[in-house]
Amino acid sequence: MKLWGGRFEGRRDPLFEKFSESFSFDRRLIAYDLQVNLAYVRELGRVRLLTRNEVYALTRGLNAIARYVRQKPNWAAREESEDVHSWVEARLEKEIGPVAGKLRTGRSRNDLVATETRLYAKDAIRGLLNNAAGVLESLLHQAQKNKSAILPGYTHLQPAQPILFAHYLLSYFEMLLRDVSRLQECYRRVDELPMGAGALAGTAYPIDRQRLARELGFARVARNSLDATSDRDFVCDLVFACSLVMVHLSRLSEDFIIYSTPALGFVELHDAYATGSSLMPQKKNADTLELIRSKAARVLGGLTNMLALLKGLPLAYDRDLQEDKEVLFDAVDTASDCLVLAGRVVATLRVRADKMKAATAQGFLTATEVADALVQQGIVFARAHEQVGKLVRYCVDRNKTFADLTLEEARGIIPTWDKNLARTAVSAEMSVSRKRAIGGTAPAQVERQLANASRSLQLLLDDARQGHV
Ligand code: ARG
Repeated sequence: MKLWGGRFEGRRDPLFEKFSESFSFDRRLIAYDLQVNLAYVRELGRVRLLTRNEVYALTRGLNAIARYVRQKPNWAAREESEDVHSWVEARLEKEIGPVAGKLRTGRSRNDLVATETRLYAKDAIRGLLNNAAGVLESLLHQAQKNKSAILPGYTHLQPAQPILFAHYLLSYFEMLLRDVSRLQECYRRVDELPMGAGALAGTAYPIDRQRLARELGFARVARNSLDATSDRDFVCDLVFACSLVMVHLSRLSEDFIIYSTPALGFVELHDAYATGSSLMPQKKNADTLELIRSKAARVLGGLTNMLALLKGLPLAYDRDLQEDKEVLFDAVDTASDCLVLAGRVVATLRVRADKMKAATAQGFLTATEVADALVQQGIVFARAHEQVGKLVRYCVDRNKTFADLTLEEARGIIPTWDKNLARTAVSAEMSVSRKRAIGGTAPAQVERQLANASRSLQLLLDDARQGHV
């Protein structure tokens, strides 16, 4: 059954039918379609466009469809429809007869599909926030459990300065917390009702859109019917939020892939999240993380897809907009799964503080600290930098670390070398403890970050419990 057959003769080319159908993916909107239809029927009743009996019949029919869908998990398996909206109307006619045709009085699939996609997006954001909270929890927990572990911090992937492992983990906490607030902002923008915008121009029936919005749980009504039916900015917004989540998870994955290679061995993945090789018995590969890294590409591709889809579309609705859904569903599904898995990988990670600590002895991580100590002796920083650079060069040429230097050797390069400098040169702890300004890696600052992080997480969990976004 077509919702638009009257004007047409004969059948559509079967290839075109298959090409243009969206039922195979928009059937995921079935619950929202029924929800919106039920609310719409009530509204039509209130403004006397339907009699009480008609409201009763349509409501009964829609509820019967809801039951049918609930009871038959593969309800859509052998169905052929243009889209989920057509399917519901056809099914409704089977349930209650021709009165089903009153369902779409004064409305279009254009305002209907925009409304349903927004309802889906709102639920999707709640789910994503929930999963993001799981990762935040895992990061915080590992940071609390490994408060004193020190590891080499890198820039350019070259050893830079020692940092606390907790400090490192909390940097990802910050990224994901930004994702959380981005999703919350996205929710506010999604939260408006297109229904009542008709096909493009609005509706001629006396529908109370504010009441409909309240009933469907929308914060407000879309102000312009052309925009309401053709706007998919909220899809771009959400796919972008998912993209940045994926970029963050991908960076975390890349770090842990590197950190888990035996040459470093800072962390070991739980066996549940790694795989082996059919040829090399010793292998333990971080496939979970590699897949998270690669799935980021797919979500980023979706963002480009959405932006390209909208660019150049004339107002108002165009069929192109049907293509938003697969992108959106896929981005949300992928980001949701990746958040859950990343949270579990972090939660079950074996942290090797001993290996991290041992690695801080390589790579002259304290060189900056030594230069700072020279500054305290009254030497100009630029000069101190050069002297320490020469000392590093001396060590590199002889395959030594700072710890291997005798007092005489060091004095040969830095004449004012003393016990204090020697101690500074070998102490990652000293280096860490001196980064005391807000946001630094000193233990007291990291404590402060931990306290802030657990407060932010608590707020997020409280909101979720109370149903707030
Ligand atoms: N399946 C369509 C979509 O997802 C529903 C809206 C169709 N509207 C139209 N005027 N052809 O966009």
